[in-house]
Parts: sequence; structure tokens; C-alpha cells
Amino acid sequence: EKGGYDHFMLKEIFEQPHTIYDCLRGRLDAENGNITMSGIQKYAEQIINANRIIIIACGTSWHAGLVAEYVIEELCRIPVEVEYASEFRYRNPIIHKGDVIIAISQSGETADTLVAIEKAKEQGAIILGIVNAVGSSIARASHAGAYTHAGPEIGVASTKAFTAQLAVLTMAALTLGLQKGTLERDKYLLLCKELAAIPEKVDVILKLDSQIKALAEKYKDAADALFLGRGYNFPVALEGALKLKEISYIHAEGYPAAEMKHGPIALVTEQLPVVFVATKDSYHEKVVSNMQEIKARKGKVIAVITEGDTVTPTLADDIIVIPPAHEVVAPMLSVVPLQLLAYHVGVAKGYDVDKPRNLAKSVTVE
Ligand code: F6R
Repeated sequence: EKGGYDHFMLKEIFEQPHTIYDCLRGRLDAENGNITMSGIQKYAEQIINANRIIIIACGTSWHAGLVAEYVIEELCRIPVEVEYASEFRYRNPIIHKGDVIIAISQSGETADTLVAIEKAKEQGAIILGIVNAVGSSIARASHAGAYTHAGPEIGVASTKAFTAQLAVLTMAALTLGLQKGTLERDKYLLLCKELAAIPEKVDVILKLDSQIKALAEKYKDAADALFLGRGYNFPVALEGALKLKEISYIHAEGYPAAEMKHGPIALVTEQLPVVFVATKDSYHEKVVSNMQEIKARKGKVIAVITEGDTVTPTLADDIIVIPPAHEVVAPMLSVVPLQLLAYHVGVAKGYDVDKPRNLAKSVTVE
């Protein structure tokens, strides 16, 4: 059942080249620059003309929503708000007829997300569901949407569903941006190709498994860890911290790297591992200077960086080198080493990574 892997979580991490490919297949034709997403296209006019998009989700799916906020605002120039479903549903939220809500859920059964969209629907919002489980409650409660087609996710920690969510949301942003005219055709074509190249690049990253396992051994006794990133990689830092927390029970926090100096930097000591998601993008120089701030305080820096980067290796204690990619699609790559890191730390500590304590795969209670 686990296909030769020790755990479902590892199997699902390793499935990602295929699951992302399956998610793109039949929708993205990068050669000819075509994206087919019937659910999104049906509501394209309304989405393009919406005053705002509200993304509603929980946990890892909420992190995918945060990445989507950056991508949709950049490519479609539509204001996006990302909400925790549990907060949104109880807040008497302001919804206007025609507002567009995107609900993101692996299971399609998360109670808070389901109730939140039902409430918004009553108030006239258009609900788009980005869901993995076919025929699930959230899929049925949505007006339209797109399935992530990642296959059943058994490990409690979400991995392959997250990268598939990003793939779907990126395709949607690309097609809407092109139709709206906020995304130029040349850039659209480039990004289609960048997206199509993700599965093979994930494959390259998976070859780092034994290196990441060794890193996990080195840092497994840390009491705390920080995960930092900026821009498209900020939500990846949050996701890296969540994965480590739930699987290894090490207290971890994710932050936008520049927020360090507003408080958390007080935590930095020689004992603290600080994981930087520092791939080459438009934020890179700024991230490098944040890394210097941590090194100056003797924190242990582990950096996920892009092939060919000669600067960060001189600052970091350990590096994980991944293939280059356009910043819009980079989170689908930069999250993979963090999934592996959490997995190997959990295993090194002897924990049941497929069934972490206190957690359920699908949270059907509020
Ligand atoms: C973390 C994790 C959870 C879920 C959250 C939402 O690894 O799995 O944080 O992401 O419970 O679940 P779905 O996506 O099923 O709505």
C-alpha cells in the first residue's frame, strides 16, 4: 500500500512529480499557450470584474491561499484577502453580491470552511472550490471550481495536496490575467512553460533526500526553529514551520524575514536553527541581508537556495540547492525540501509521522 516507502507521508512527498503533472495534464498546453479550466472559465467575467476575491481555508490550504494572494494580485491585479475559515464565519463578514470566494480544501469536508462558504453563498457571493476529494461537501457547495487531482492523501500532514493546490491556483491566475489583459502574452507564455517544467524539477529535488535526512539528524534535538522567507516564499516559510511542528513536535514559527527585527530576533542564539527559504527572486537581496542579521547573532542558518547562487553559501551553515524557477511558480519547489526535512526529523525522533498525536486527517468539527 505504501508502495515500498516506510510511510504514507514519504510516499506522498515522492509522488509529487506525478501528482503535479496529473493536475496540469489536460488543462495546461504550454507549447500552444492554452489553459482549459471549464469551472473557472464559466465565471471568468465575474471574477475579472470582481471588486475583490476572498480566499477561505484552514491550515496548509490557507498557506496555499496566501501564495495565491501574491500570484493573483500580481497577474490579475484583483485585490485578494486570505481568511481563516474559522474567523471569517463568526465575524459577520462584509460580503457584497458578486464578491468571489475561493475555498481551498484537500478533504472538502473541513467544517469551518464549509460553513463559511455556505454563509457567503447566502449573501450572494460566487463560490469557487479548489478541492482534492471528488464529490466532497465543499465541492458540492461550490458554484464551480477545479479539482486538484492529487489522489487520496493518507498521511495526516498535507504535502502533495498543497503543491497541487498551487498548480491549480496558478493556472487559474494565468488564464484570468491573460483574459483581463493585466498579464502580457509573452509573460503568460513564459509562465506556462515554467509551470510545465515543475514536475521534472521536483524530481531533481527529491534526489536530495539523503542529504536532507543527514540535516535532520544534525538538527533533530533543537527545541525550537524559525522559518523565514519573503514574497512568494513567505507562505512557504509558514508551511515549513507547520510541517515541522506537527510531525516532529519541535516548536517552530514561520515569519516574513523582515519581521524578525520587530521581535522574534530576540530568540536567536547559537542553538537556534533558522531555515531561510532564499531562492533567487526579486526579494533575494533583501533576504540575504536578513540572513546576515541572523548570522551576526550566531543563529544556525539552513538555507534553501537556487543553483548558481554564490552569495548565500558563504553565509549559511547548511544549504539545500534546488533548480531555478520563476518566482511565481517557485513555491511548488521550495516547499519540497521542507516537507522532507519535517519528515526526517519526525522519523529520527521515533514518531509516527503518518498519525501525529492529537491530529485528524479531516477536521469535521469546528
Ligand atoms: C497540515 C494539515 C492541515 C489541513 C487543514 C485543512 O498538514 O493537513 O492543516 O491543511 O486541516 O484541511 P483541508 O485542506 O482538508 O480543508
